[in-house]
Amino acid sequence: MQTAYLNGTLLPLAEARVPAMDRGFLFGDGAYEVIPVYSRRPFRLSEHLRRLRHTLAGIRLENPHDDAEWTRLIDEIIARNEGEDQSVYLQITRGADTKRNHAFPAVVTPTVFIMSEPLVTPPPAQRDTGIAAVSAPDVRWLRCDLKTTSLLANCLLRQLAADAGCVETILFRDGFLTEGAASNIFVVKNGALLAPPKNHLMLPGITYDVVLELAASHGLKCEVRDVLEEEVRAADELWMTSSTKEVLPITVLDGQAIGAGKPGPVFRDMYAWYQNFKQKVMRGGG
Ligand code: PDD
Repeated sequence: MQTAYLNGTLLPLAEARVPAMDRGFLFGDGAYEVIPVYSRRPFRLSEHLRRLRHTLAGIRLENPHDDAEWTRLIDEIIARNEGEDQSVYLQITRGADTKRNHAFPAVVTPTVFIMSEPLVTPPPAQRDTGIAAVSAPDVRWLRCDLKTTSLLANCLLRQLAADAGCVETILFRDGFLTEGAASNIFVVKNGALLAPPKNHLMLPGITYDVVLELAASHGLKCEVRDVLEEEVRAADELWMTSSTKEVLPITVLDGQAIGAGKPGPVFRDMYAWYQNFKQKVMRGGG
């Protein structure tokens, strides 16, 4: 049985209920985080909490807890759920009002929800052969740096991949790469790593940071700059990254092979560095 936290109470996940007038339900008016947990230790919790503060400030919602309280609540959820490796999901909405009104309620009592799911990393076959992706215009708003629960555009975009039997949808805006529907995207060209810079057009991924740090510490050349759609299509290698997918090679885009059409040597290095980092640092709560 999964145990969740809802507004001060621990309860079975299946029994967690929020009012229909909650602004999260009516407007998607909320913030969220997904925190991977290895050996029962949340990975980069302070970075996730910093990103949460950035989102809350961006949507003008007061943070209901300080970092010490978030840490206590997250530790409690981890302890009460099964599995050494978990994926902790937390969300805060602007709470329930008595009438439907786009403008904020005069008094806000936020809804705070935390749950844990098993951390399911990609099956080995996906790493061995790579995954297929489709592309689409990035039709989202201009605050993609905020991790809000208003995810309809991301859901519709990810569904394009699912409809085509693919894993991810790569998004382009005005001829440039932004990110995936639920991941960040990296390009490898001539042995160097290319990544779009963090700005309002993409989510600043925690895994994105890890990949750039691992590249720097192993002497892999990196360029963080705007990446053209043509550069993505002509890449030697293409990767997607997220807390739950880790690093995955994309070997087919819109039915066309990327590079040699199989996971490349730079991916194999990065995957090994990532797994080593996971064993040595993430499992130590780094
Ligand atoms: N999504 N970009 C988008 C749009 C995302 O939704 C995510 C992650 C990322 C990668 O961020 P990180 O490395 O911090 O996981 C980038 C999570 C996993 C989700 O919504 O379930």
